[in-house]
Amino acid sequence: MKDIKVGIVGLGRLGSVHAQNLAFKIPGCKLVAACSLEQKELDWAKDYLKVEYTTTDYMKMVDEADIEAVVIVSSSPEHCWMIEYALDAGKHVFTDKPLGCSLEECKRAEAAVERHPDKLFFLGFMRRYDPSYADAKAQIDAGHIGKPYLVKATGLDPEALVESCIKFSKTSGGIFIDAASHDIDLMRWFLGGEVTEVYAAGTNFKHPEFAENGDTETGMAMLKFDNGTVAFLHVGRTAPHGYHTETEIVGTEAHIRVAGVPWKDRVMVYDQYGARQEIVENFPQRFAEAYLLEMVDFIDCIQKDRKPELTVYDGTKATLVTYAITDSFHTGKPVTVKY
Ligand SMILES: NC(=O)c1ccc[n+]([C@@H]2O[C@H](COP(=O)([O-])OP(=O)(O)OC[C@H]3O[C@@H](n4cnc5c(N)ncnc54)[C@H](O)[C@@H]3O)[C@@H](O)[C@H]2O)c1
Repeated sequence: MKDIKVGIVGLGRLGSVHAQNLAFKIPGCKLVAACSLEQKELDWAKDYLKVEYTTTDYMKMVDEADIEAVVIVSSSPEHCWMIEYALDAGKHVFTDKPLGCSLEECKRAEAAVERHPDKLFFLGFMRRYDPSYADAKAQIDAGHIGKPYLVKATGLDPEALVESCIKFSKTSGGIFIDAASHDIDLMRWFLGGEVTEVYAAGTNFKHPEFAENGDTETGMAMLKFDNGTVAFLHVGRTAPHGYHTETEIVGTEAHIRVAGVPWKDRVMVYDQYGARQEIVENFPQRFAEAYLLEMVDFIDCIQKDRKPELTVYDGTKATLVTYAITDSFHTGKPVTVKY
């Protein structure tokens, strides 16, 4: 089979991870074009990744570069128009989460996907590709925990990175929009229902800047689903020990915990502090395998003319739920999710 020629837009924190995977690790593809607003990122793509075509102009890349597929890892408000532009130009599209930043944007992406059923649209909720989450899902589907009825999800960024989170909080739309969409996706996946109502709260004890920016340092939410199941979300910015993602799925017969302690590896250090294990420091480290496996699947879907499990509608639903949670946080009242 011939290699799929790919162009990427966005070479920042996550785009650089996807770009390296595409350039060096994914079978069946060739990264030939890259787009970013940052010239030094483009220089890196040319020099290190050996990308032939670079530009700061996304439309130009889609129109001019010799590519069959586009990988979108630009800032979230850019996703939907970029999806539409690439699909209308006849390209296959991978986009990272979130699908969009408003219902209108998501509907624009949905319409573009519906206009081009012959093109692949792939939504990057990579946690579904993480081997531990995939194992949890397989055990649930096999009936090992009975009926799953409660998910408890924790997602905490490390205190070591708090300065960038404070800076980002002015424009991110808030912690729930920025950090909760993966957990919402997993909750829908594990519980097999749609969120009907949410209630959220937040608190700020270390960094008043979050509250000054209209955001919160720690957020929690309760979610009710249309099949009677429930979920609890805890997101935060100040984990002293590292990047802490933990999920518990409670069923009628058993519980499953994913990353109860997010160990970095199996090394134990014996020193003056005792015997200790390190934990993962950031999301690229924790989910390195998931980012790789989702991109392998994207290319494989194109090669084999196959559709992935996740659809554009999953992206719209996750976005709507994060906005409903944000509404509830600001109003202090339960919010019904309207689809
Ligand atoms: N799946 C995950 O776990 C995960 C993790 C982090 C970020 N993300 C998502 O990935 C996206 C990027 O996040 P990031 O942290 O890498 O951001 P970043 O700010 O580090 O990088 C953004 C990149 O997009 C480029 N860009 C922005 N607007 C552009 C435009 N109009 N034309 C061309 N290039 C443009 C910038 O030049 C930069 O290269 C966001 O949507 C974010 O939500 C997902």
